[in-house]
Amino acid sequence: MSNMAEYPVEHRVSELFAAAKAVQKNAYAPYSHFPVGAAILTPSGRIHAGCNVENAAYPVGACAEAGAIAAMVAAGETAISVILTICDSIEVGTCCGGCRQRVREFATADTLIYACGPDGVRAVFTMEQLLPTSFGPENLNGFVS
Ligand code: THU
Repeated sequence: MSNMAEYPVEHRVSELFAAAKAVQKNAYAPYSHFPVGAAILTPSGRIHAGCNVENAAYPVGACAEAGAIAAMVAAGETAISVILTICDSIEVGTCCGGCRQRVREFATADTLIYACGPDGVRAVFTMEQLLPTSFGPENLNGFVS
């Protein structure tokens, strides 16, 4: 956790890291043995966390980001300021493609996405960097009421 102080205090990286690491321990990953934790900071200052939940019918499993988003929405919030994920891979573990789109629904181009390993932050991206020129709710303006 030594590198947490490198990031702006308003990103609440230490708290997000602690929340993601705690929930990672509850990941249900008996098939991949790859536990993931995710924590979301919303504009209100609340933090919501989720872990991956796998299934014997493999494609039905859910990513940690999906769990954190579900917790955020269940708590009545629909905006992501910062999302941080943690996994144990040697490589930098960024959000999968599907989760980039899931995050995009509640993000802006500037939303921050921190990718962490067990010891701290490995990389940080903006939403625009991870999913450039993306499709989002604004694209449906005028088409849905
Ligand atoms: N996983 C996540 O939870 N988030 C990602 O962005 C990448 C992958 C999970 C899904 C599966 O349970 C395990 O990691 C291995 O792919």
